[in-house]
Amino acid sequence: MHMCGIVGYAGNDTAMPFLLAGLNRLEYRGYDSAGLAVLDQGALGFVKTVGRIAELEAALADHPLAGKVGVGHTRWATHGRPSEQNAHPHLGCHGDVAVAHNGIIENHGALRQELQAKGHVFRSETDSEVAVHLLEEYAELPFKDALQAVISRLRGTYALAVVRTQDPGAVGAARQDSPLLLGLGEGENMLASDIPALISRTRKVVVVEDGEVAVITAQGAHIYGPQGEVTRPVLAVSWNLEEAERGGHPHFMIKEIQEQPKALRQTMAGRLSEDLSRIALEVDPGPLPRKLWFVACGTSYHACLVGRRLAEDILGIPAEAELASEFRYRHLKLGPTDTVIAVSQSGETLDTLSAMRRAKAMGAKMIAITNVIGSSISREAELNVPTLAGPEIAVASSKAYTTQILALTFLVLAYAKRTGLLTAAQEADWARELWALPEKAELILQKDAEVSSVAKRLTVAKDVFYLGRGTDYAVAMEGQLKLKEISYLHAEALAAGELKHGTLALIEQGVPVVALLTQKDLLDKTLSNLAEVKARGGWTYGITSYDLSQHDELDQVFTLPACRDELAPVLAALPLQLLAYHVAVARGTDIDKPRNLAKSVTVE
Ligand code: M6R
Repeated sequence: MHMCGIVGYAGNDTAMPFLLAGLNRLEYRGYDSAGLAVLDQGALGFVKTVGRIAELEAALADHPLAGKVGVGHTRWATHGRPSEQNAHPHLGCHGDVAVAHNGIIENHGALRQELQAKGHVFRSETDSEVAVHLLEEYAELPFKDALQAVISRLRGTYALAVVRTQDPGAVGAARQDSPLLLGLGEGENMLASDIPALISRTRKVVVVEDGEVAVITAQGAHIYGPQGEVTRPVLAVSWNLEEAERGGHPHFMIKEIQEQPKALRQTMAGRLSEDLSRIALEVDPGPLPRKLWFVACGTSYHACLVGRRLAEDILGIPAEAELASEFRYRHLKLGPTDTVIAVSQSGETLDTLSAMRRAKAMGAKMIAITNVIGSSISREAELNVPTLAGPEIAVASSKAYTTQILALTFLVLAYAKRTGLLTAAQEADWARELWALPEKAELILQKDAEVSSVAKRLTVAKDVFYLGRGTDYAVAMEGQLKLKEISYLHAEALAAGELKHGTLALIEQGVPVVALLTQKDLLDKTLSNLAEVKARGGWTYGITSYDLSQHDELDQVFTLPACRDELAPVLAALPLQLLAYHVAVARGTDIDKPRNLAKSVTVE
């Protein structure tokens, strides 16, 4: 699980009210099912439901759980569809251990096999379930030792919350690359993935760090690292609830922009071999179709434009990217030799869903790239290549877009591998370049202040133009959409070569032009177009992965870390998102919920 929420309670009170309130406070993280497990008089009781927390509350009203020690979970499906079976907490073979997990256990396949060989019976399709069976293996060890033994076997990311019958007063926890906090109370101690779940009971919080385990009881909270018990300063939280949900960020959008290195890592998890020599998509895309169609709306369509180029360049087959709302009304003849790739963050966009149904009815093969497993688009596709960006709350898409490009890249490379178009050396080169992306994204995000100073110039503009050629044109389109939707400024993206065919008439003194320059073979041409802009007094800002600092055609340059040209759209998106964000902040718009727009567009 990725952005799931976990909570735990050990105290003198009944656990259920805190656990439910905590899960409600973690709703913003996104979820499709929820569950609780509570220890009462030496036995574990549990309730799990698909859907909203209200369903869980209704189920609990019929079967209240009375104990004072328990864990809870909201699940956002990544491995296995949303179902009661796949919802957490997972109980082991004998019902005496329950585990809630947030993260992705990368070696779950091997562990599952090993544990099944020992006789463990698995009940879910999740990666998480291996953790509970591992805990059963270490049942004879004291709680903390059992947790440490378990994490020594796990690879990937996790925050675990555990209860087991032989420790009736305690909740155990462990963390690696997924958030985990302890909340210290009077006669009670708690744990949660995030502060909002804790602040109704306590403002005293302790952070559990990677590689550590923790055990909480009514009397105390203890953290253990590999060298023994750890004492950590207690933080006093002063945030109100709303601020806490945004993790202290002023808007969800900037939080999500900053989350991109992590979102990229999660989307790659398990798709690159450990030695970075191989790329392994979890599904076989099948033989190369006659033609690939990329279909989506808005930002997802912009990701498709990048995907189309990749497909054409790497696979050498015809590929089209089409807006879903247009695709539906084209008189196309598609058949089994066509494959349609529907791209959607929400997986619920009606235009995309309808386009997909139409293509399916004509016999085309359907592949979905969505950020929500179990969404309508993911369910109706034959094959899914999910993005694992975690829920996106801000209406403006950021981390969904960059992870879509990544998922599309993996898909195209999977076709290339299957068709013998990729040598082992080329595959290894791609793997290394992909692996390096999140770190490069981090470097870019550190230059936020640089972008924010440029934003000042745009804030008062009437129009902003975005230019690019080839793939850079696709990225320019995403840049202009971001600016328009959150800052309400007018912006337009142009294929750089088109400028002189009309729009140049609008370039006058001071008009800002943002140019994308990441494709080596197209640099000179775009620079010539920028010279035309400069000659008319326009102000030019270049975003490039090459050294263009000495070029007069550019008034200011943002230099991206070097990368393969094909992957530059992922990196170039980041300064564009920051630029739009800072302009919007300066203009005082409603950034997370821009006027007239909705996160999920389920009307035509
Ligand atoms: O959920 P989807 O990716 O299918 O949504 C498609 C568009 O509505 C969406 O990308 C929209 O353009 C965003 N608000 C852009 O930031």
